[in-house]
Amino acid sequence: DRIRPLLAGNWKMNGTRASLDQIKAIAEGVKAPLSEKIDTLLCPPATLLYVATALCDDSPLAIGAQDCHSLVSGAHTGDISAAMIADCFGTHVIVGHSERRRNHAESDALVRAKAEAALTAELTTIICIGETADERDQGQTLDVLKRQLAASTPDGAASETTVIAYEPVWAIGTGKVPTSADVEEAHAFIRRELVARFGGDGEKFRLLYGGSVSGANAADLLAVANVNGLLVGGQSLKAADFLAIYSAF
Ligand code: G3H
Repeated sequence: DRIRPLLAGNWKMNGTRASLDQIKAIAEGVKAPLSEKIDTLLCPPATLLYVATALCDDSPLAIGAQDCHSLVSGAHTGDISAAMIADCFGTHVIVGHSERRRNHAESDALVRAKAEAALTAELTTIICIGETADERDQGQTLDVLKRQLAASTPDGAASETTVIAYEPVWAIGTGKVPTSADVEEAHAFIRRELVARFGGDGEKFRLLYGGSVSGANAADLLAVANVNGLLVGGQSLKAADFLAIYSAF
């Protein structure tokens, strides 16, 4: 069976009420017949979550969040729980993005706890992994992927509920994209690791590539074996750019 692809946009710390027209335009652009073959997701900042889900009520475009806390509620000023995302009708959450690992010193163990919380809240969970430029230069790419994947993915993960995003840190927001051969190697490695841990279900996990994806390179990336979708940052902010990537599926 072919794996149903997923296109995900991550707005990061961008987007205000003035951007709602872009969300609306994306929601309107995500339509049949393509929407019958692929899932499409947009993750605006948390401030727009509730209004975004309302805007997308009649669209196949799903709305998700960019992070969640590992606990359901409590004295955690500034944090947002997975249950709160679900309460806003969000259906997905990204955890372990490299910007959170780096800027908030998030460990694999914390990312795993967040993923567990997300799964408990019945959110589809996108777990991000990827090597830095230094790690790549030192030939550690697969070691890093192995460690992050093993330690950030909960035992309760399954292909229905969990997505793995490979984002080489050096490719994020830089315009640099790994070669197809490098993407193929990384994704094949992640696939093997998932099969070793989850058996046959490991074959079905969706593996996204992320890092400087654009309308110009999307088709080439999607042609790589074990690339089951894309995680897009900068090029998801404007509806025209994001929909150009959508059309490449
Ligand atoms: O989550 C998205 C990624 O970090 C990719 O960002 O498309 O701006 O390189 P980018």
